[in-house]
Amino acid sequence: MALILGIESSCDETAAAIVAGEGEVLSSVVASQIETHGRYGGVVPELASREHLRAIVPVVREALTEAGVEWNALNAVAVTSGPGLVGSLLVGLTYAKAVCLVRGLPLIGINHIEGHIHAVILEARLAGSSLELPALALVASGGHTHLFEIMPKSGKMVYRLLGKTRDDAAGEAYDKVAKLLGFGYPGGPVLDLLAPFGEADAVRLPMAKMKGNAMDFSFSGLKTAMLRWSQSQDMAEEIAARRAVLKASPKPKLEQWLAVTPRATLNAVAAFQRVVVEELLRRVERAAEETEARSVIISGGVACNAGLRASAHSGRINCPVFFPTPHLSTDNAAMIAAAALPKYERGEFDDFTLKAQSNLTLA
Ligand code: KG4
Ligand code: ZN
Repeated sequence: MALILGIESSCDETAAAIVAGEGEVLSSVVASQIETHGRYGGVVPELASREHLRAIVPVVREALTEAGVEWNALNAVAVTSGPGLVGSLLVGLTYAKAVCLVRGLPLIGINHIEGHIHAVILEARLAGSSLELPALALVASGGHTHLFEIMPKSGKMVYRLLGKTRDDAAGEAYDKVAKLLGFGYPGGPVLDLLAPFGEADAVRLPMAKMKGNAMDFSFSGLKTAMLRWSQSQDMAEEIAARRAVLKASPKPKLEQWLAVTPRATLNAVAAFQRVVVEELLRRVERAAEETEARSVIISGGVACNAGLRASAHSGRINCPVFFPTPHLSTDNAAMIAAAALPKYERGEFDDFTLKAQSNLTLA
């Protein structure tokens, strides 16, 4: 049984995991840098690389210990080679190459977006449910919003890009709107938590009007509408109160947020979440019909969103919809090792010229 060490360092999470040949996750360790970047309201690339450098050795060691696996039992090392922040990618990639060189192991470079898709395939396989092709995959996170068609070809999966964001990624829109309203970083989890307490109909926000490819996404108009809405309100006091809450506890609880968030703001949050969910799912719904997809995969950090999950499972999509568990939705290394399994079986290895590619595409 093959044992693969997966390494992920494309953004602000240093992660390592051991995945076995059948797709069993023996360990999955994620060191988050949220506290480092939180005070700046977003990821600071230079700080991210420095934190990866600090974390990579202990995180890999912990993944091995947790899995009860010795170095010499490993069969391959899989590492994210892109897309992502180049300085961050380089830390994982250089470390992976060093391990492969010293231990004589094959190196497998993985596209981060393909990793997010494999998080779902891995869990579906473990649950014994079949994920039939052709499938659609929506990957929505802080860095990407991509919609792919996945088809089988000569025993492999091939990807066709149907649409992608023309400006902000869905998670980025959450993060920027949360920052604007004083909710801190990352914005998705807190806005998602508060959205059910507001009345989405109370605030009118625009849906994107796309010229050209109707499967592309855009969130900048929505973000601007939220900015205008906030400027039309007298928000200084409530924003100061939320910043004080954040200062007192880095991870405030629902009651703490509700105590400093008036009804009008809750309504705007609910309206924002409803538009983001609609922007994402309308395209998925339409693409599922047009491509006659037999399953839909929704992955990436935004796939944690409770509103998105509820709406996707409401019957509006005409085939089964698969989400990863929250731990495998956000960045992790189990998904990187999982994406490497079919490549390992086919003997598709990389050499040491493998580069960090910040704009690596899939399809
Ligand atoms: O996949 P991920 O960990 O990192 C990237 O590859 O970007 O995704 C992080 C993003 C952040 O923008 C965060 O705000 C968003 O995912 N996110 C959410 C939720 N949880 C995380 N967005 C909406 N609702 C959530 N519950
Ligand atoms: Zn990601």
